Amino acid sequence: MDHFLYRNGILHAEDVPLPEIISQVGSPVYVYSTATLLRHFLLFDEALSWGPHLVCYAMKAASNQAILKTLAKAGAGMDVVSGGEYARAKAAGVPGDRIVFSGVGKTRAEIRTALEGGIRQFNIESEPEMEVISEVAVTLGVTAPVTIRVNPDVDAKTHAKIATGKSENKFGIPIARAREVYARAAELPGLKVIGIDVHIGSQLTDLEPFRLAYRKVAELTHALRVDGHTIERLDLGGGLGIPYTRSNEAPPLPTDYGQMIREELGDLGCEIEIEPGRLIAGNAGILVSQVIYLKHGEGRDFLILDAAMNDLIRPAMYDAHHDIVPVIEPVPGGEQRTYDIVGPVCESGDTFAKGRTMPQVNPSELVAFRSAGAYGAVMSSEYNTRALVPEVLVNGDQFAVIRRRPSFEEIINRDTLPEWL
Ligand code: LLP
Repeated sequence: MDHFLYRNGILHAEDVPLPEIISQVGSPVYVYSTATLLRHFLLFDEALSWGPHLVCYAMKAASNQAILKTLAKAGAGMDVVSGGEYARAKAAGVPGDRIVFSGVGKTRAEIRTALEGGIRQFNIESEPEMEVISEVAVTLGVTAPVTIRVNPDVDAKTHAKIATGKSENKFGIPIARAREVYARAAELPGLKVIGIDVHIGSQLTDLEPFRLAYRKVAELTHALRVDGHTIERLDLGGGLGIPYTRSNEAPPLPTDYGQMIREELGDLGCEIEIEPGRLIAGNAGILVSQVIYLKHGEGRDFLILDAAMNDLIRPAMYDAHHDIVPVIEPVPGGEQRTYDIVGPVCESGDTFAKGRTMPQVNPSELVAFRSAGAYGAVMSSEYNTRALVPEVLVNGDQFAVIRRRPSFEEIINRDTLPEWL
């Protein structure tokens, strides 16, 4: 459920008509709904309320500080994967003891920053990383709380580029070697092993792969406890998928997910952490764009928008589907057209949809890409020297620009010329 609905014939973000935002901010622009963000966070929080837990928002999905602060004020922790994300989370006021640090390539500098600034735990991804975290912690005279990410070799049944839990993926240590690796961790100074971490992929639309992975985590918890380790926290990663089309069968809800976790892991007496990104931010954001031209091609019509692959790369990168709807509500039974919906960037990959049938729209009219809140603005770039797409946050009948569109001057002035030119 989201808060982007037609009212009086116009698509609104909560109580704000989208054309009002466009008239002030221009197009294209990402628009987020506070109510949807909070609703999704609270659904997870509620789904795990049967025991001690922390929902750590995977901020890679949408990392604007206004979004982070909205969620943090509601009680969310953060899952960060870089020094930059750590700094952003801190800047948004998230305390270190609510930040978990994931990712396969944490550098010494990033580890040091997190240890100095406070960290809930590092999710260790490899043995070399484990040695480095130990070394940095010893140098600083502190102890690093850690979990070790295990790779359960489970097929997440999602797009290959976002599946992470198979043995061929670069993530985690093979679960078969976990006891050996935990034994080494226990020997290392500067580390306090507190639990297990697992994340098998993103946009999962079935609970079964999660269940298989979590069952393996339960078995491992028993085995590690027998070996004498303290396992008091289980970080179960993110990955629950969202409906990208209205017609599709809906993926399981956070409530079902929370119930399944309880069934598989509820009797272990562990604190549960999860790291959802997409389900919190995905349907809480849309990308609004204006039609520039309608071009009649050979046997097809191109709808050329002012948004492009640099603003929303998911269709080009993962063949992802986003519903694209007119901002002015189509009349029931009105004209339908079939378009190739494209952006102005100079490559054919700059295609949002091929042969998409939708209500007729005309040049200068606005359209909205639904479900664009996660992995949208964060993956945008300035390719073709197109200004980085701005972001707006709506809250009831108010809205605020939370990242403004840079001017061409600002963009160009970021380059510096060597003295010989
Ligand atoms: N935790 C870890 C360790 C992750 O690697 C990820 C996502 C998450 C949590 C959050 O997963 P989510 O709940 O959002 O599915 N750019 C791609 C998605 C990449 C996901 C990367 N890792 C896309 O646009 O589909």
